[in-house]
Amino acid sequence: PLSAQAATRRFGFEGVAANTMDDITVPKGYNAQVVSRWGDALFSEAPDFDETTRGTGESQALAVGDNNDGMSIFADGDRKIMVLNNEYTNRKIIWGNNPDGKALTDDDVIKGKNAHGLTVAEVKDIDGKWQIVKDSPVNRRVTPDTPMEITGPAAGHDLMKTAADPTGTKTLGTWNNCGNGETPWGTYLACEENFNGYFSAANEDHKVSDELKRYGVSAKDWGYGWARVDERFDVSKHPNEPNRAGYVVELDPRDPNSTPKKRTALGRFKHENAEVVVNADGRIVVYMGDDERGEFLYKYVSDGVYAEGGDTDDLLTNGTLYAAKFDDTGSGRWMALTPETTGMDKAEICIHTRQAASKVGATTMDRPEWVAVNPLKAEVYCALTNNKNRGIKPNAGGDPTPVGGPNPREANKYGQIVRWRPADGDHTVEEFSWDLFVMAGNPTVHSDANAGSENLNAGNMFNSPDGLMFDQKGLLWIQTDGNYSNKDDFAGMGNNQMLVGDPATGEIRRFLVGPNEAEITGMAWSPDRKTLFVGVQHPGERGNSHWPNGGDTVPRSAVVAIRRDDGAVIG
Ligand code: FEO
Ligand code: CA
Ligand code: CA
Ligand code: CA
Repeated sequence: PLSAQAATRRFGFEGVAANTMDDITVPKGYNAQVVSRWGDALFSEAPDFDETTRGTGESQALAVGDNNDGMSIFADGDRKIMVLNNEYTNRKIIWGNNPDGKALTDDDVIKGKNAHGLTVAEVKDIDGKWQIVKDSPVNRRVTPDTPMEITGPAAGHDLMKTAADPTGTKTLGTWNNCGNGETPWGTYLACEENFNGYFSAANEDHKVSDELKRYGVSAKDWGYGWARVDERFDVSKHPNEPNRAGYVVELDPRDPNSTPKKRTALGRFKHENAEVVVNADGRIVVYMGDDERGEFLYKYVSDGVYAEGGDTDDLLTNGTLYAAKFDDTGSGRWMALTPETTGMDKAEICIHTRQAASKVGATTMDRPEWVAVNPLKAEVYCALTNNKNRGIKPNAGGDPTPVGGPNPREANKYGQIVRWRPADGDHTVEEFSWDLFVMAGNPTVHSDANAGSENLNAGNMFNSPDGLMFDQKGLLWIQTDGNYSNKDDFAGMGNNQMLVGDPATGEIRRFLVGPNEAEITGMAWSPDRKTLFVGVQHPGERGNSHWPNGGDTVPRSAVVAIRRDDGAVIG
């Protein structure tokens, strides 16, 4: 292990204490500034954010979406392009006319809908402050109504056909985009997560198919009310519509007129992020989690190889999906999802991916969130955020969730980070070995397994790891989306936070604490690596925050830019 001093040099900051302030806390010698907030105008024709009404359907379509999650920064010559996932909305916040969180008018529903999708915006450092460049030619909102192409094995399959699209190859929009990814060829990957919560049926007694049930689709939506303004969200009338969501969507951030592509080859589930790595032989490997209690961890391996400047369309169109099976003793195997192993055809594997993974006996996980590949070695990390059902209830498809392997605690309330090393350093092979990088817990409250692993202490404890990303030095940045009560099992942990872990030593240090009732999610570096952009999602989701503007203002999800006071590179 490194000496304490060397470890400090490697981290480059002093740890931040847990707190419950309605603010962003960064280490001594660092500063944070708000770059963009939900509702900020992207175009000069759009009004400024209205604190009272909180916008209209029309203004929202021209402004930054709500609840930013995964994000990237792309360089295009001198231009920097920020792409944000706008995962969902807090209904008690977006509708200024009704704090009960129910849409009163059709336009309320349309505003909520337009707050979903993606935001593409040029950002620029002007006089030391990062800000959105209004009216930049790259600025764009992608909403649940933006035309998209369906690609890959599921394109054109009967299960993908609807009244509006009898070809099963063209669809409208993306929503509930959680984590993200980037390809080596400079495109953005937006990952569709809880797509089910937007479908409903006019008749609440309507019974959905078992196939849709496995994905959580039911006759009741989660309160968004989209079927009220858009009939395709009525699952009794359009039962195939939910089959067209739950994918990874590829977007060219440099062309605002490009048609985003749904990449069905990467499978359909509640996608968290998509971590892309070019294997030594040039094949593209994409690691992906399915964030649901007792669902699975996946990887995709392309058939073709990547060549700089070559045609890349095939790389996310033709390939093989695998689901992970872990044993209890530190080894595991990727189980190929093929017609031979599942009895399903290739299209069906890409549409009913969860069912395919159940057939090969993949391991039910404690909600796999982000996956991150170590840039210094063939080693992959995944945040398993928590799982109150572990050892108690099967997953939604009925697969058992026994305690064991990388999911070692019953009713897991704190989460853990698993890591694995592919055999021979080859990301395409089936065999791997695994261990836990950290088991989160509270050593000030518990002395059993809920105290967490040895690299956890009263000064760096946390719960519910979610966002994961490596920096160029090979340090692992960890973001949390957990219990912020700061009491009982969570006493002393404070608000959601960001930490940095050192894979070589196991040391973990807290870098940032978020405002009240927010999660910290999404991060990206500026091309010169001197700014770290970090996402703050759902501040005040229970009514107790006025971040970022303070006073009596409406809480707003935002992106903050973090820099060192001395201007040096971060991480
Ligand atoms: Fe949108 Fe799994 O977090
Ligand atoms: Ca989230
Ligand atoms: Ca997440
Ligand atoms: Ca989460």
